[in-house]
Amino acid sequence: MSFDKDLIIKLIKVTSNAAVSCHKFVGKKNKILADKAATDSMRENLNKLDIKGEVVIGEGELDEAPMLFIGEKLGTGKGPSLDIAVDPLEGTNFAANNLPGALSVMAISNKGNLFKAPETYMDKLAVGEDIPMDAVDLDFSIEKNIKNIADSRNKDIKNITACILDRPRHKSIISKLKELKVNLKLLSDGDISGALLVSNKKHDVDIFLGIGGGPEGVLAASALDALNCKFQGRFLFKTENDITRAKEMGIVDLNKKYDLKEIVKGDSIFCATGITSGDLVKGVKKNKNTYFTETLVTQKNSLIEIVKNEVSIT
Ligand code: FBP
Repeated sequence: MSFDKDLIIKLIKVTSNAAVSCHKFVGKKNKILADKAATDSMRENLNKLDIKGEVVIGEGELDEAPMLFIGEKLGTGKGPSLDIAVDPLEGTNFAANNLPGALSVMAISNKGNLFKAPETYMDKLAVGEDIPMDAVDLDFSIEKNIKNIADSRNKDIKNITACILDRPRHKSIISKLKELKVNLKLLSDGDISGALLVSNKKHDVDIFLGIGGGPEGVLAASALDALNCKFQGRFLFKTENDITRAKEMGIVDLNKKYDLKEIVKGDSIFCATGITSGDLVKGVKKNKNTYFTETLVTQKNSLIEIVKNEVSIT
């Protein structure tokens, strides 16, 4: 079943309101309060919708409430049964320090269609629509992936740009990319946005790669699927607890590489509202009691849209 425009408009309001609620904590150096404001707003507004929703990608487990936790039921209990993936504040450092790129993000699908995963790291790789399916793979060497992208795009390797989180765990990948003379776009945070940069040539990013949050991977996958891009992810389970949770959630092969179609099935809606302005959307703007937001919305088989919204606070 594909989703109607009415539900999309309601979901845009959910992430818009969460962004506006978080806005007053921008630059206040308090990641927890900023995250809580976005989370409380998202929960309150999702609970008003006529849906039977369940959080499949959230910000932790039940005992870590007040975050939106995996398994939490949302909505009035009337209406369609939906899987919900949430990241009410993606880029807690960005919001706390008033830096570009903080977003409020959510994705939904019909029940059973979004991958249910514990909160753990994921090794990820994303490329644009025109790159053939078999040109890139998490198990190929960096050199092979880059060379294949360069060949597909008929570009010199020195004109390829790779986007990756700037983390010590990526030292050897970054060194290899430098050795190959690939241009780097290093992110201090925010790898949902980073992964989505491959979807449009205007961002000039040919490949997104590296290890980031698993929940962020599933959220990005929902948008990349709608945008016909390629994505692969492999969860990384470090602790015994991670492994136990993964098995409880039905993950049998812990080393499995997942393609888009295994992470997101059927129709899905992805909404990302800007809290601070970044590569994808502008941040919240205020004029008296009215707040103006921008939301990037994707849905399968639909055009990508930037939707402007007004939220009035009385
Ligand atoms: P938060 O908004 O939860 O702080 O996450 C920001 C982020 O950069 C994500 O985009 C990314 O997936 C993850 O953190 C990477 O984790 P780490 O900072 O541990 O490398």
